[in-house]
Amino acid sequence: MSDPIVASRPWRRSLRYANWLYNPFHGLDAVGIYDLLSTGAATQQGLYLNLGYWREAADIDEASAALAMLVGERAGMAPGDEVLDVGFGFADQDMLWARRLEPARITGLNITASQVALARERVAEAGLAERIDLRQGSATDMPLASESVDLVVALECAFHFRTRERFFREAWRVLRPGGRLVSADIIPMPRISGFPARLKQQLSWSLVAGKFAIPAENSYTRPTYHAKLAVTGFEAIEIESIRGDVYAPLHRYLAANPGSLGRLHPMARFAARLALQFDADSVYRGLDYILAAARKPKRLSPRSSVREAAD
Ligand SMILES: C[S@@+](CC[C@H](N)C(=O)[O-])C[C@H]1O[C@@H](n2cnc3c(N)ncnc32)[C@H](O)[C@@H]1O
Repeated sequence: MSDPIVASRPWRRSLRYANWLYNPFHGLDAVGIYDLLSTGAATQQGLYLNLGYWREAADIDEASAALAMLVGERAGMAPGDEVLDVGFGFADQDMLWARRLEPARITGLNITASQVALARERVAEAGLAERIDLRQGSATDMPLASESVDLVVALECAFHFRTRERFFREAWRVLRPGGRLVSADIIPMPRISGFPARLKQQLSWSLVAGKFAIPAENSYTRPTYHAKLAVTGFEAIEIESIRGDVYAPLHRYLAANPGSLGRLHPMARFAARLALQFDADSVYRGLDYILAAARKPKRLSPRSSVREAAD
C-alpha cells in the first residue's frame, strides 16, 4: 500500500500523532484519522477496526468478527441478497459475510482511499473480487441507483458521517421496498443529572467525539435516533443498547493483554495505556453503543413517494 503518511518520515508521523492525540485544539477528519492509523489495529489476525462484541469472544479478533456477524445476522443477510456495506475499513467483514452468509453481491463504500486500495488487494487475494465490489465514496452521497439493494449495513462508522441523517436518507433511497438498514453505532448516553456525574459523562463523550471525528450534529441519544429513522420513512425500528458487551469487556481484555496493543503506533499505544489506568466505567461513561435496525416499508405511502420524487 503506498500510503503517503506511512511512507513519510517516522518523526513526521509521530508529530502528527502527538498533535492529534495530545493537542486539545487539534482534531482530524475521518480520512485523516484512518490514514494515520493505517494498518496499526489491535487485532492480531485481521485488520478490523471495530471495538468488538464480547459476549462469547475470547480475543479481539473473535470479538471484531462477532460484531460483524451480529450486524449481518440482524440484517437477515442471506443467499441472493444485494448488500451495501458503508465504512468497510479493510473489508474483513465483507469477506466474512461472503463466506458465511453468502449474499449474491456486496458493494462497499468507504471514504478513505488508502483503505479502499488495500482492501481491494485483500479481496482479490482471497478470490472474492467477483462477489465484493469495493468503491471509494461517501455514505452520505451514494453512487448507487435508487431501489438497487436489499440491505444497507454500517459497522461502527455512521457516527462519523456528515451527517448520519443524510446517510439515513441515502440508505432509504437505495433500498428496495422491504429492504433493511442495520447499524452498529456509537451515540451519547442518556443525560444524567447531578454534579459531578453529569460533567464526567460529558467529558467522556466530548473527548471521544472530539478526537474521533464525530460531528456535533450526530450527538443525540436513542429516542432521537429512533425519531430520525422514523422521519426518514423507516418502519419496524428497533434500537438496542449492547454497550455492556462492548466497552467493559474490551477494556478488561486490553488491560489483561497489553501485548495486543503492539501493532499500534507508540504514540497511540501510550494513549491507550493511559486510558487503561482508569476503570472502564470512567472512560466510557458518556458512550452508548447501539445496534439499530429498521425496514423500508414494502408499500410506500403516498407521502413517501412524493418525498422520494422531490429528493
Ligand atoms: C471505525 S472504522 C470501522 C471499519 C470497519 N467497519 C470495521 O468494523 O473494521 C470506520 C470506517 O468508516 C469509514 N468512513 C468514515 N466516514 C465515511 C463516510 N462518510 N462514508 C463512507 N465511509 C466512511 C472510515 O474510512 C472507516 O473505514
